[in-house]
Amino acid sequence: METIVRVDLGERGYDIRIGADFASLLQVKGAGRSALILADSNTGPLYRDAVSRILAKCGHVCSYLEIPAGESSKCLEQLGRVLEHAVGAGLDRKSVLVALGGGVVGDLGGFAAAVYLRGISFLQVPTSLLAMVDSAVGGKTGINLPQGKNLVGAFYQPVAVTVNLQTLQTLPEREYRSGLAEVVKYGIIHDAAFFDLLEREQAALLRRDPSVLGQIVARCCEIKAEIVSRDEREGGLRAILNYGHTFGHAIEAVCGYGTYLHGEAISLGMVYANHVSGMCYGFSAVASRRVRDLLAGFGLPVQFERCEEWGRLRAVMSSDKKADRQVPMFVLVEDMGTVHFGCEVPEDVLQAAYAHVCEGERK
Ligand SMILES: NC(=O)c1ccc[n+]([C@@H]2O[C@H](COP(=O)([O-])OP(=O)(O)OC[C@H]3O[C@@H](n4cnc5c(N)ncnc54)[C@H](O)[C@@H]3O)[C@@H](O)[C@H]2O)c1
Repeated sequence: METIVRVDLGERGYDIRIGADFASLLQVKGAGRSALILADSNTGPLYRDAVSRILAKCGHVCSYLEIPAGESSKCLEQLGRVLEHAVGAGLDRKSVLVALGGGVVGDLGGFAAAVYLRGISFLQVPTSLLAMVDSAVGGKTGINLPQGKNLVGAFYQPVAVTVNLQTLQTLPEREYRSGLAEVVKYGIIHDAAFFDLLEREQAALLRRDPSVLGQIVARCCEIKAEIVSRDEREGGLRAILNYGHTFGHAIEAVCGYGTYLHGEAISLGMVYANHVSGMCYGFSAVASRRVRDLLAGFGLPVQFERCEEWGRLRAVMSSDKKADRQVPMFVLVEDMGTVHFGCEVPEDVLQAAYAHVCEGERK
């Protein structure tokens, strides 16, 4: 069965189609136009043939480019490769770029589509859980510079997002669990009933039960679609999607990208933000404990092991893109599903939360 979630952005609006096979999901008429399929060295060998066969049947003339798997491909060099390949393959203004992979392929491919010939169509075909529930929806595209992550980019919406849940079956376990951190985030920031559902379906999610995954991915996409359609360019509300990210991004930067996967760092960031929320907004210890237990149940870290790093982490939080005049800004939760954004936090609270996330569970 297929579920369709609409991202309501007027003339830039599009559907997210969630199902279990490319054949029904990828019915996009080609009429002899060129399509460039961009994948990485893991997703290409697995799914390139199926996707190009269907696109060719729909009338596209397909070409293919593969980038090395991993965050380091979100760079100027690979962007140059994509753009030069597009010229060589004769892509014109009516062509489409198909991003077949996780968030790295989606962010790079989306940015290439945004700048090639001042913008061609692009189709998101996310294959990681994180990309399905987060990065493929909402139109943030971009690449990294040696000086930092996502420093160059554009808001550029895809023409459609095609989620084939079957692809999750080949996702490595650690990547899958990392994606679950963003799933938990939606319950905390927007939907207490959804958080309850995640608790109930924990075991089914861990065994990647297709029908439960369909329900969960669709709800995450609905929540993200709703938030993005109310605030496409992060003038305000969209910031709530950054729950756990102020501390999480600092961990990624200080420990070195890849030491903690993004979702793992966000798991620690949410434990940290929960504690700050308890001190600033009275977020209950019981609710905080439920979040921690669910994250731990998904095999995500809830205790930070490198407790000597406060000085460096604190400095990175001040230079975060979301900081305002060097003051880190937090999303804080008052009650499950009710959050505040743009919050300044007193220094002693920041430090106390750090001690908490380092010391682990209080007995
Ligand atoms: N644009 C946004 O709004 C947004 C939001 C969140 C994160 N991001 C970005 O997303 C990126 C992280 O995304 P990610 O976690 O998907 O990383 P990723 O794209 O590196 O994918 C993770 C790993 O899983 C592999 N993989 C993906 N799908 C697979 C499948 N079905 N089977 C086997 N292997 C598969 C990839 O090859 C890679 O090795 C970061 O660059 C982050 O900045 C963007």
